[in-house]
Amino acid sequence: MRQITIAIDGYSSCGKSTLARELAHELGYAYIDTGAMYRAVTLYCLEKGIIEKGRAVDAFKVIKELLHIKIEFRYSDNSGKSETYLNGKNVEGEIRGMEVSELVSPVSAIHEVRKMMVYLQRQLAKDGGVVMDGRDIGTTVFPHAELKLFMTADINVRVERRKQELLSKGIAVKDSEIKRNLQRRDEEDSTRAISPLKQAPDAVLLDNTKITREEQLKIALRWAKERIVNSAPER
Ligand code: DC
Repeated sequence: MRQITIAIDGYSSCGKSTLARELAHELGYAYIDTGAMYRAVTLYCLEKGIIEKGRAVDAFKVIKELLHIKIEFRYSDNSGKSETYLNGKNVEGEIRGMEVSELVSPVSAIHEVRKMMVYLQRQLAKDGGVVMDGRDIGTTVFPHAELKLFMTADINVRVERRKQELLSKGIAVKDSEIKRNLQRRDEEDSTRAISPLKQAPDAVLLDNTKITREEQLKIALRWAKERIVNSAPER
């Protein structure tokens, strides 16, 4: 059967990666978490002391480091998921913490960072049959993706989901701090000059405030199967 590309964009903590992973599993596709890539760049810069909380990000310093950053995804039998590696080290846990969340938006707004990540994302997806989630997948990375979803949900629902995600990793953060971080990232990601977060004109809107994870998967799978059937046959 023909394999399509599925692009999932949307606001922070809307459940994009949950849906993307489940869709990929159901379809036998690869799942690529592009947020993890921007988070890994941010972690590298934090560890090198190039950026720090409360100080404006110096784009020049970040750009100078880019060639020293190698990002890979490797499947873990333990977690049953693909995990993020930065220069050979598993950073799946570290990249999800608040320190990285605080600085990832300004780092990801740097033109050269985006150029490198988009190049890598296209390389990773070159064989097709891919579900990729992020902020600019349907608009910039794969403007011709056969299925584009744009996800949103009520802010309080998103705060609760993010809180549970952090708690499952043993990290306790106040609701107000999570809310501030989500709102600030949404604002910064939507208003940056390069590839801002926005719904592609041909993307389907999926608001999952009031639907369950299972219902959301069912809806998205139906859309994906329609696109697979209707997309042009392989030449
Ligand atoms: O999906 P996430 O919350 O892990 O993404 C972290 C940040 O990375 C997000 O706030 C903005 C940036 N990002 C981006 O600019 N473009 C993408 N395709 C994915 C993420």
